[in-house]
Amino acid sequence: MDTMTAIMTRRSIRAFKDAPVTDEQMKTLLEAAMNAPSAGDGRPWHFVVTTDRAQLDALADEVDEGNAMFKQAQAAVLICLDESLEGFKGFGPQDCSCAAQNLQLAAHDMGLGTVWIAIINVPPRVAGCRKVFGVPEEMTPFALFPIGVPGEELKAEVRYDESRIHNGRWVKR
Ligand SMILES: Cc1cc2nc3c(=O)[nH]c(=O)nc-3n(C[C@H](O)[C@H](O)[C@H](O)COP(=O)(O)O)c2cc1C
Repeated sequence: MDTMTAIMTRRSIRAFKDAPVTDEQMKTLLEAAMNAPSAGDGRPWHFVVTTDRAQLDALADEVDEGNAMFKQAQAAVLICLDESLEGFKGFGPQDCSCAAQNLQLAAHDMGLGTVWIAIINVPPRVAGCRKVFGVPEEMTPFALFPIGVPGEELKAEVRYDESRIHNGRWVKR
């Protein structure tokens, strides 16, 4: 899939088939995530990866408010922010966001589905991730991604919006 096609057709997938995700696919996802740009090339991230059924089920209950998606997912990736590695202080969330979007686009390119589950700034979800994965206090759970073969098909959306564009000078609308 070419880059523009991946960007324009990716959707958040919250239902998964009972079909395996391979170790090789997981490695490719992590390669894509770690190839993201980061401020000062700091790469202030760690990735907690699981394909363990009991852990995936626990994520549904402890993090995702009992929703079914982690019970269906075959794998999950938690991106954690390590502030001690930030190339420039305070830029870590932006760096982790770049890794997160690379991961989502790579999954789509491989025919896998995922959705960004917000963790940072959601205290009960942060606590759930620490409990399920044993993430230490000095690391900040940032965003969680269930991974699987899509069990739903969502149409591409065109969200281009001229009213958000200001040519040369800000136009008050
Ligand atoms: C920072 C961020 C946080 C999000 N958090 C959640 C979440 O907690 N749960 C969820 O189901 N989707 C979450 N999403 C997915 C959005 O709901 C989704 O991207 C949006 O509705 C647009 O749909 P699309 O991804 O299919 O294009 C999040 C997306 C982003 C970028």
